[in-house]
Order: sequence, then C-alpha cells, then structure tokens
Amino acid sequence: MKTIRKPGAMNRETGALRAAGRSLGLVPTLGCLHLGHLALIKKARRENDVVAVSIFVNPLQFKPKAYQAYPRDLEQDRRELEKAGVDFLFAPRAEDMYPEGFDTRVEVLDLVDKLEGKSIRWHYRGVTTVVAKLFNIVDPHRAYFGRKDPHQLALIRRMVADLNFPVKIIAVPTIREPDGLAHSSRNTLLTPEERVAASAIPRALGAIETMIRQGATDRQELTMELVTTLAMEPLIKVDFAAVVDAETLEQDVFGKSVLIHAAVIIGGKRLTDNRVVTS
Ligand code: PAF
Repeated sequence: MKTIRKPGAMNRETGALRAAGRSLGLVPTLGCLHLGHLALIKKARRENDVVAVSIFVNPLQFKPKAYQAYPRDLEQDRRELEKAGVDFLFAPRAEDMYPEGFDTRVEVLDLVDKLEGKSIRWHYRGVTTVVAKLFNIVDPHRAYFGRKDPHQLALIRRMVADLNFPVKIIAVPTIREPDGLAHSSRNTLLTPEERVAASAIPRALGAIETMIRQGATDRQELTMELVTTLAMEPLIKVDFAAVVDAETLEQDVFGKSVLIHAAVIIGGKRLTDNRVVTS
C-alpha cells in the first residue's frame, strides 16, 4: 500500500490509473477504523481494480474541542488497511487541504435544513466541502459511504447530482455490535457504564420499527414515543429524534420507506443511529 500525504501527488497517481483504464473506488474516512469502515472497503475491493482510502479528520466539520479530542491512530489504521488489501492511503495534512487563504465552501441549501440540519448546518457544510475536495483530488469512479448517517448520504447524493461529479455513490448498510449498537469510532470513547447505556439506542429504534410494521403511521406520535423510550435510560440525553420519509427527510411525505433517526448524548459523546423501514 502506498501512503500519500499531498493532494497533488494523489491526483497524479489516480490520473495515471484512470488513463490506464483502471477502475477506482474511494472510501473517505476520518480514520480510527472499525468494522463499519472495513465493510465499505471490502465492497470497494470487490467492485474496483484499485481502492483508495482517505483518512482526514476534517476541521471544518468539528467544533475545535471535538476536533482535538477526535481519536487518531494512523499506524494502527495503516496496518488494518494493508490487511484489507487497500492500494492507496491518502492522509493529507490540514494545512495542505486548507492552505492559507482557503475561502470556499460547498453547501446543499434546502436539504441541509432537514432533520437536525438547521442546528448543525456548519457541520454538513464542512462535510460537503471536504467530500467535494476529495472527489476532485482522487477522482474515483465509485465512492462508498455508510448508511449510518442518512442525512450525510442524502446531501452527498444531492451534491454529486447538482455539481455533475462523475462518481457513483454506493451506500453500505450499518455494521452493528452483537447488542445492536452501530459501530462508530466514538464508541471507543465510552466508559463501560456508558457503553451499556448505549445499547438502549438500537432497542428504542427497534421498538419504533415494530410499531410501524404493526401499522402505526402518526409520525409525530412515533417521534414522541422514540424520545420517551430513549429517555428511559438515565445516561441518555436525547439530542434529536425524528420519524420522516426516508428520501425527502420530510415528516409529512409518505413514500415507500420511513426513516427512524436518533441522536443522543452519552457522557458528552454524541451517538447517532437509524432504521429504514420499507413497506
Ligand atoms: O462520515 C465520515 O466519516 C465523514 O463525515 C467523511 C464523509 C469522511 C467526511 O469527512
């Protein structure tokens, strides 16, 4: 595996691969790789000649304290990527991605305000900006994202369509721990007591899924029920909960699939998870 730090060098490598007719898959990550990332990489490995993984803790999508605290272990990640058969690790430095004078943002205007977007518009603006840069630098044929953040996925799909990025977005199902908790780098920050409390998240989502499968349709009531069920766990502070149409992210649109989405704070760590129920 080749590790590349400079955007220009990465762009030259992938330009040559494209010219040679080789297909390229990109898995963008924040590092601190877990089974969820490995599932994305495995799929990318199956579907492309060449696989690149980016590891970049993007300062534009974090508040300064969270940016400092975000877990980083590049050497351990490198070992995992070698084992997974990745060809390129792109691990740029913040000063190379955002050099002095950097002054551009990429923002999806309306969709960003759905779900909890209104309060964290700046976060998703940071995500779409860095993903647009990664697409320009790496220029992949396919890019792989987890379904764990459905809002991020919807925004990236919108951006790709609106800005004509020649990349296919592939969504990969969430990988879960045995008790149902979604794999996340943040799980490593939980104390043992908080980790036990976190298992209430998949249980609450599952309870709402059952209600929908049994015919419940009032999304406001289902959202209230989700909040009440989550709040039964004393260590959980519910930050956001919603039951909406899975495509438009609107509460009053009734398409084929319903998204049950929750974001909670446990011991200062924010964890999110969701279920999509398709009729
Ligand atoms: O989901 C993530 O890991 C990040 O938001 C992403 C897509 C790598 C952008 O920094």
